[in-house]
Amino acid sequence: MRNYVAFFAVVIFALAFLSSEASANASKCEKDLRKCKNSVVIGPSKDAFKKNLAQDFCAIFRKGGSEAGKLAQANGTQILTGVCSNTPQGEIPTVDNMPSTLILCPEDGQKFKANEPFTVKVKTTKLELGFFSDPAITYNTFPQVLNKKGVIQGHQHVSIQFLGNKELEMPSATEFAFFKGLNDPSKNGILEVTVDNGLPQKGLYRVCTIISSFSHQPVVLPKAQRGASDDCVRFRVI
Ligand SMILES: *[C@@H]1O[C@H](CO)[C@@H](O)[C@H](O)[C@H]1NC(C)=O
Ligand SMILES: *[C@@H]1O[C@H](CO)[C@@H](O)[C@H](O)[C@H]1NC(C)=O
Repeated sequence: MRNYVAFFAVVIFALAFLSSEASANASKCEKDLRKCKNSVVIGPSKDAFKKNLAQDFCAIFRKGGSEAGKLAQANGTQILTGVCSNTPQGEIPTVDNMPSTLILCPEDGQKFKANEPFTVKVKTTKLELGFFSDPAITYNTFPQVLNKKGVIQGHQHVSIQFLGNKELEMPSATEFAFFKGLNDPSKNGILEVTVDNGLPQKGLYRVCTIISSFSHQPVVLPKAQRGASDDCVRFRVI
């Protein structure tokens, strides 16, 4: 009889110890998602929905958090010094509704004279164009949205970068020779912009599209595509 009592005492003590450890873990986890070793789901799981919630992912960077001050809280402005965003990824289309882009003009290898005006013409499919939120105050602020047909609502951009004259130069992501958002709607998916003054510097250039969701984040897709959603062509200014 005494043995039973001792046995139960040990069991109750062990359970109390385990549950206090579990609740300590849970509260650490609430404060910092990265500390939830057993919470964030890596790999297929029916619990991913419950466990991989965005929660307050950026809490640790705010006052009182373990990484306080290391990153600013995203607030809809374009903060160039690093930022933590709590915006969920939002609505992701079916594989048949992944967008595609083709640059119709200029053509690969085309030549323009310095300062000669030219037009960049872009066709985008499986993207409802014309959804462009104010980039000064709603940058990355709301999740990706699909229209009634299940197509991402968003917009396009054209970026032209210099690639060097005699030798190929690595372009910097912060520099461009020409940049324009294609923010208008289009029934046939075709939008264009004219580079009114052409380009003054001789050499090799590339023109690329940058496809974006409504509030400027890159499009979120259901699988790694075998076909890119953006297009680039290279041309020369002589
Ligand atoms: C608590 O977290 C540690 C790692 O941080 C883990 O090894 C342990 O199994 C967790 N305990 C419970 C009861 O979840
Ligand atoms: C947004 O955050 C930046 C960086 O912390 C700050 O400088 C700016 O004043 C904030 N803007 C608003 C509208 O909260």
